Amino acid sequence: MIIQSAEFLQSNTSVKDCPRPDYPEYAFIGRSNVGKSSLINMLIGRKGLAKTSSTPGKTQLINHFLINQKWYIADLPGYGFAKVSKTSKAKWDLMIREYLLQRPNLLTVFVLIDSRHEPQKIDLNFIHWLGTKEIPFSIVFTKMDKLSKAKVLKNTDQFKREMLKTWAALPPLFVTSSENKTGRDEVLGFIEEVNRGWK
Ligand code: GTP
Ligand code: MG
Repeated sequence: MIIQSAEFLQSNTSVKDCPRPDYPEYAFIGRSNVGKSSLINMLIGRKGLAKTSSTPGKTQLINHFLINQKWYIADLPGYGFAKVSKTSKAKWDLMIREYLLQRPNLLTVFVLIDSRHEPQKIDLNFIHWLGTKEIPFSIVFTKMDKLSKAKVLKNTDQFKREMLKTWAALPPLFVTSSENKTGRDEVLGFIEEVNRGWK
């Protein structure tokens, strides 16, 4: 898919204020600092459009972008950031869960997993929750440029095995790097295909 246009639309704290659900939507979620905003910039080819930071907790709101005048991206705040209070965690939970459960045009949630780590409970729990709510999702491994191919394979294989303990089949999986654009064509190709099924 060729990206002809990408614009930031709005930031919201509540699903009811999000842009009209007139176009297919893809949300990016995962642990704080996993690389959600960087991946979005890499996919749409615009470096600073989604705000990134080396400090976890940069994205705090539901941020909408309109791509090619035809589909939306939602950049979401990360979970699992150690330095947040119980109140902010509860707020995150409410905001994100409401968004995920009530957004009618949400076609796929991309769950980002840091390819450097062994399977983490917090990610597996979140994925399990998506499953119980029947929310369609894909897995995107990030930051693969930071380790050897062999190590990426080892960690992704381990993650798949862990998922197959509770799931009958695996969701679509992508291995990416925002540094060197690995996985860009695959993720955009997938979005293009899913867009075709819209209305
Ligand atoms: P929050 O909004 O805070 O939840 O973080 P996020 O998931 O949006 O992460 P963000 O894109 O802000 O990236 C976090 C840090 O990881 C930044 O310092 C990025 O430069 C770095 N980073 C993200 N993706 C990659 C990647 O593919 N490779 C490398 N080497 N670094 C990356
Ligand atoms: Mg972010």
